[in-house]
Amino acid sequence: MNVQKRRTVSLLDLNAHYEKIWDEIQEAVKKVLISKQFILGPEVKELEKEIAQYCQSAYAIGCASGSDAILLALMAVDTGPGDEVITTPYTFFATVGSIVRLGAKPVFVDIEESTFNMDVSKLEQAITEQTKAILPIHLFGQCADMEVINQLATAKSITVIEDAAQAIGAQYQGRRAGSLGTMAAFSFYPSKNLGGAGDGGMLTTDDPSLAEKLKALRAHGAKKKYFHDYVGLNSRLDSMQAAILRVKLNYLDEWAAKRRENSGIYRQLFSQTELLNDGSVKLPVEVQGMFHVYNQFVLFVKDRDGLMAYLREQGIGTEIYYPLPLHLQACFAHLGFQRGDFPVSERASEGSLAIPVYPELCLEDQQYVVDKIAEYYAKQL
Ligand SMILES: Cc1ncc(COP(=O)(O)O)c(C=O)c1O
Repeated sequence: MNVQKRRTVSLLDLNAHYEKIWDEIQEAVKKVLISKQFILGPEVKELEKEIAQYCQSAYAIGCASGSDAILLALMAVDTGPGDEVITTPYTFFATVGSIVRLGAKPVFVDIEESTFNMDVSKLEQAITEQTKAILPIHLFGQCADMEVINQLATAKSITVIEDAAQAIGAQYQGRRAGSLGTMAAFSFYPSKNLGGAGDGGMLTTDDPSLAEKLKALRAHGAKKKYFHDYVGLNSRLDSMQAAILRVKLNYLDEWAAKRRENSGIYRQLFSQTELLNDGSVKLPVEVQGMFHVYNQFVLFVKDRDGLMAYLREQGIGTEIYYPLPLHLQACFAHLGFQRGDFPVSERASEGSLAIPVYPELCLEDQQYVVDKIAEYYAKQL
């Protein structure tokens, strides 16, 4: 019998991630500490320029988190009571939380099982006279079908806000996430492909008047200090985060390439098992014309909770993104949705499992993950 030595394969290994860049990060942080320019400041300005260029967008505006980036984008087009914003129920809470916080109504379109992204064939029927914005999510690092979304939105002058929190560097038909809608929201949460050492976020847009408004909105709505044109937020990016992110931005493409390589290796390893043929495991589909950056590699699996517990015993970290779709969350009960309203999202919540795909993962780790998944299902027979 092939007895494999127990390993530990965590979902993400930030120690390994920081090892190679440790000296550069320390230098960058030291520089900010010496400068004493802690909030916004030159590091943030430089990062904004670099992100705008990276995302093929005219403007980038730093803010305190990805959640705030979504909120600010919605505020920039005066979203409020009476407005509807179309998104999917299968996303991180912030996407929908921001809509509801502004008093607008979320209108859900279900996802496609193969990509976990908006099923755009169902989008047109969700658009009404009240639709203020469409908020597609580039979930797990793959862009939503932006051509269809933009066509429908342009025809009715609807704003498109990309939730690109998980997708910096992803491409749709050769164009980068952040350049595909009216505005885009990015997150620098530590587990993102470009993660800071704390919270942070960024908006991108090609529209100069929106860029100017977003800049004001992140600073309590003041274009000029102490003179307030809008009621905004305190949502500024700090210089320490910007300095760290500037170091990491230089490695982002290399890391994305490793994530893509690791997902290719998984595809190969799984194809050497019976798991795909017998339906125990479905792999995420990378759609043609997309450049997926695999912030997460998410499987659709049978008996997900049993498998997850077994993998935990074997030292393998996994995660459920997301265990309860947003239309069924307690805080949205007043919206009146029922189980069964968005069946694909509900199925995904019951069957999805993210396995480690981070750039520093080695082949032996991946082989171990696939072997242990196969072992779990073999034990069920
Ligand atoms: C799809 C999605 N939207 C929004 C956010 C919010 O970003 P943040 O955690 O930086 O507020 C996240 C990050 O967790 C996310 O994954």
